[in-house]
Amino acid sequence: MKVGLFYYSKTGNTKKIASMIEQKIKANKINIDLIEIQPIKHPGFIKGAYTAYREKDLPIKNQDLDVKQYDLLILGSPVWAGKPVPFIHTFLHKSINTIGKKVAFFFTSGGELEKTRLVQDILKKWSKEKDFQMKKNMLIIQMKKGDIVSGEKRINGFIMDLFTK
Ligand SMILES: Cc1cc2nc3c(=O)[nH]c(=O)nc-3n(C[C@H](O)[C@H](O)[C@H](O)COP(=O)(O)O)c2cc1C
Repeated sequence: MKVGLFYYSKTGNTKKIASMIEQKIKANKINIDLIEIQPIKHPGFIKGAYTAYREKDLPIKNQDLDVKQYDLLILGSPVWAGKPVPFIHTFLHKSINTIGKKVAFFFTSGGELEKTRLVQDILKKWSKEKDFQMKKNMLIIQMKKGDIVSGEKRINGFIMDLFTK
């Protein structure tokens, strides 16, 4: 079993949670690669929010990745305008072959977690467009300047579900 954890992070929150998840998975002796999705350029707030909201692509350096070696992909993203960042859209729609892949998602957000439903609906739509199997259990962690505000207790359950369902 090999896991590929890919994440985008502009200000470090998602990177922090990605590392926590990586460490916890490693502690269970499961092979995992942690890979940052790198933008050609980080957008400013308005462009970022607009492209995320419209579900558009923004270019990334990680092009044409071979993810065949991974039995499970975990994708981490900040919530931008209630949606995944455009780089996650690019990653799934342009960068990898998603067909039949098992994909789990986690998010960090600045606000309260009521956006979960919206994000989940979008991912369900993308999973149909790109033919990947989305893991039902999704994690959203609310954060402020690198500190977890809420959701920390759900991390272990999220990880356990990845390997038991
Ligand atoms: C362009 C932009 C849009 C955002 N939109 C939302 C939002 O709709 N809801 C929310 O809760 N937080 C929003 N945030 C806050 C981020 O989701 C939050 O700070 C996140 O943890 C940042 O992750 P990072 O440090 O890995 O970049 C937004 C931040 C940016 C930069």
